[in-house]
Amino acid sequence: MTLVDDLKALRQQAQEHIEDRNADLEQLRIEYLGRKGQLTKLLKGMKDVPAADRKTVGQVGNEVREFIANTLAERQKQKAAAELDRQLAAETIDVTLPGSSPIQGQTHVLQQIMDEIESHFLGMGFQVIDDPVDSPEVETDEYNFERENLPKDHPARDMQDTFYVTPEILLRTQTSPVQSRVLEKHDFSKGPLKMIAPGKVYRRDTDDATHSHQFHQVEGLVVGENVTMADLKGTLLSIMQELFGEKHQIRLRPSYFPFTEPSVEVDVSWDEVTPDTKPEDIRWIEVLGAGMTHPNVLKMDGVDPEKYSAFAFGLGPDRFAMLKYGVEDIRQFYLNDVRFLSQFNRKGN
Ligand code: DAH
Repeated sequence: MTLVDDLKALRQQAQEHIEDRNADLEQLRIEYLGRKGQLTKLLKGMKDVPAADRKTVGQVGNEVREFIANTLAERQKQKAAAELDRQLAAETIDVTLPGSSPIQGQTHVLQQIMDEIESHFLGMGFQVIDDPVDSPEVETDEYNFERENLPKDHPARDMQDTFYVTPEILLRTQTSPVQSRVLEKHDFSKGPLKMIAPGKVYRRDTDDATHSHQFHQVEGLVVGENVTMADLKGTLLSIMQELFGEKHQIRLRPSYFPFTEPSVEVDVSWDEVTPDTKPEDIRWIEVLGAGMTHPNVLKMDGVDPEKYSAFAFGLGPDRFAMLKYGVEDIRQFYLNDVRFLSQFNRKGN
């Protein structure tokens, strides 16, 4: 056999190997075309070829090299395409399968109630004060207590166990200080002051079913000429009916707060009241404190109590939520258990 026959045989053999389904193409490239590969080995026989034939044999050698290289490249391409097809088929997305929807967050139930209260009062022309300048959670003793007519030795301070930061700085125990912060800046030439202040308050209480060391209040204050108790009652009735329903009634009971005189506690009827309901059948629940602002408070805020009168109220969204939804433990609102919270899914959330 001549060298040319050997080369042709090699070409034939390489082709068969390359076309084998299981061929390792890189391995074959080394085996046939590598520096120590079969082609190189054969071509070493050139030295024995008569000089006149060398050119032709050399050409055949080159053709075989090219053929093997091309066949390898071609096969490589085919394999890559097949692999791509396989992957595409394996990773096809079935768009008809039902999707899994991500868990969606929602507004916390207490925030829902505060939003409801806010939008009600906004509709009645009140300002909402909730910025850290006029409604800071870290307050001074002066604004939290003294300006609310609770001097340092006042026994009513005991009603509000306080987290003190320093003797003069504390975590506010009530949203009432916002009244003074806003009132002292109010310009009455622009009209009466009507404001609410929703926010967090803190008390040094041990947490239990009805106490939380942090809870919420919404403070309200209206100051103007001829502001009366009837205005207070009308305002409170409107917010209670907004929260509990049109057919609920309120009643005012005498009470005591240092910053109001007279002071009242407000009850709302647990059930709906119709013209046929007998008064003795109505079940009342206490929902908030309120009253006509004490002249001392007005004076301390630079307002003439002879000219202006005012009413104030403080309500607790946590308590409303407990009453409205029959929640018996206030701590539930603060545990961030989504199984609990997701029950109060306001529409549109
Ligand atoms: N600040 C009172 C409290 O935390 C609640 C309150 C009662 C606020 C009567 C008022 C009010 O504005 O008039 O117990």
